[in-house]
Amino acid sequence: MKNTSIRNTAWSLLGVAASAMALDNGMALTPPMGWNSWNTFGGSINETLIRGVIDAMVTTGMKDAGYTYVNLDDNWFPNPARDASGNLIADPTRFKSGMKSLSDYAHSKGLKLGIYSDRGSKTCMGIAQSGGYGNEDRDAKSYASWGIDYLKYDNCNTVGQMQSDYTKMSTALKNSGRSIVFSICAWETQPWMPEIGNLWRSTTDIADSWGPTGWSIMGNFDKQVGNYIYTRPGAWSDPDMLEVGRSTKLSDNEYRAHFGLWALVAAPLISGNDIRSMSAATKAILTHPEVIAIDQDSMGVQARKISDNGDLEVFAKPLGKGFDTYAVGLLNRSGSTQNITVNWKDLKLDPKSVTVRDVWNRTDLGSKPDSYTASVQSHALVLLKVKGKMDTTATWWAPDIHFVSTSNGSGVFRHNQSNGGKTITLGGKTHAKGFGVHSPSRTIVPLHRKFARFQVQVGIDAETTGGSAVFQILGNGGAKLYESPVCKGGAAPVSVDISVAGQDSLYLITTDGGDGNTNDHADWASPVLTLPESMSAIQTKARGNAGWSLIAGEGKVSIHRDVATPTMVQVIDAQGRVVLSQVVEGMDAILSTQGLARGVYSLRSQGSNGPALQFVNN
Ligand code: GLA
Repeated sequence: MKNTSIRNTAWSLLGVAASAMALDNGMALTPPMGWNSWNTFGGSINETLIRGVIDAMVTTGMKDAGYTYVNLDDNWFPNPARDASGNLIADPTRFKSGMKSLSDYAHSKGLKLGIYSDRGSKTCMGIAQSGGYGNEDRDAKSYASWGIDYLKYDNCNTVGQMQSDYTKMSTALKNSGRSIVFSICAWETQPWMPEIGNLWRSTTDIADSWGPTGWSIMGNFDKQVGNYIYTRPGAWSDPDMLEVGRSTKLSDNEYRAHFGLWALVAAPLISGNDIRSMSAATKAILTHPEVIAIDQDSMGVQARKISDNGDLEVFAKPLGKGFDTYAVGLLNRSGSTQNITVNWKDLKLDPKSVTVRDVWNRTDLGSKPDSYTASVQSHALVLLKVKGKMDTTATWWAPDIHFVSTSNGSGVFRHNQSNGGKTITLGGKTHAKGFGVHSPSRTIVPLHRKFARFQVQVGIDAETTGGSAVFQILGNGGAKLYESPVCKGGAAPVSVDISVAGQDSLYLITTDGGDGNTNDHADWASPVLTLPESMSAIQTKARGNAGWSLIAGEGKVSIHRDVATPTMVQVIDAQGRVVLSQVVEGMDAILSTQGLARGVYSLRSQGSNGPALQFVNN
């Protein structure tokens, strides 16, 4: 399965309403990589410069490292920016060969061309008629006819309403006849942005300054950290373009930290330096294959902060589908060298299983039991790749693993809090872990077929008096795994305990309970995922329907039941395939499971209705 399907499946699940909202243009399935003119050249751009940058993308190895887009920022048009018919035109002096010729040149080198506009009447440089407001369809068609591949759409001189303006341009691009990446630039995050843009600028403009606050590398990074709840393939939170190599004001450590942090949070990597004349040190940072691979990991997960000791922080980004590999960043914001430790239990890795690689130095550091401590210089980031085994003794809380909020009826989706931002409270009991949502909502929890059971308490949070919701859990292909009765405010929570064996992702849905969504502060409280490895104890005691029970282990399943009639039983694997059929006789029978792969199976008996028994084949 390609990573693409997270979005596609999610959209199809909620039917018309969601697909009408979704961008779903199949673009930017990993964070876009490229170059943009603004940071170094501001409004002083022309075709000689851009052709030179296109050439340099190839000759410097930037293209081979993965950089694809060459993006023009503000001021590629004349003043005023449109012809007598109202069509946008390229500046006839500075871009005298025209945009089509420039995109042809980029394409001939295996690169792509990006362009810039604004949702208002004028771009941020205030050039007359340069904004897209009211011209969305016409401008999108021009871009398509010029062979443009990427549009950055800014937020100055506004006339209309933000969401409606950006939605209009998103739709216009979709209808333009060409695949064009849509980059929203509105200097903030709104939950609707990932639904209509491939990336959205979460911050004010970056500057060639470490910070620590304000318009700077650290200032922008800090505004990015909470956006992990939205980031996913095709929808990237953008803390702005790179400052790496822009000057000698910042140290290589600082630029390395900047680049490594952008990779950890799965940010677009759009360089902003003059790549025609960059130093070897700058090139080494921008083209580091292992750092880029962290950014481009196909799961598209943004790192979360896992520990914070003032100036010393640890970030972790899951890589791949195994829940066993992470990129870890140890960031030292202080003015002196400091030790920073990462504990494997915080990543839910078996503490004895972990090996460590130093990414910047491309060196394997070997097995490191329990934790790893690095000495980190001032304003530096030590970047590690760690690999181990899932910790089967840990409690796997769903909010602790990767998830994505793709819609939420009102307010902000809350991680480990109620929709109102309080401690999750259901039926008089508080919960430290969970999702606080507002109907209608949808949260996706990728499981990568690693888990066996899912248990959760659902209900309306005590912070509201009214409200009602129905909770649904969907699995592969939109199959409904669970649906609650209507849960009303003030009522006792409902306990859910379902098999999730073989599920790629869970889709946690709340609907409004049929009475509108007023006060529908819905909680998914204490959601726990159980691994097959830690499940046999639970399952061996399970008593199924029709008086059946079983004990699994040592290559066999011992079956006990209340009757002795010969009965056909089937063993079904996580993909739903029948892997064993056998007639059992007597009240106690043995089924050999030798030769079956390790995993979770269900056992069904012919003629019984009700849930099948599950067992784990270790
Ligand atoms: C805004 C944007 C910048 C840049 C300029 C161009 O400030 O945030 O990234 O595009 O406009 O005028």
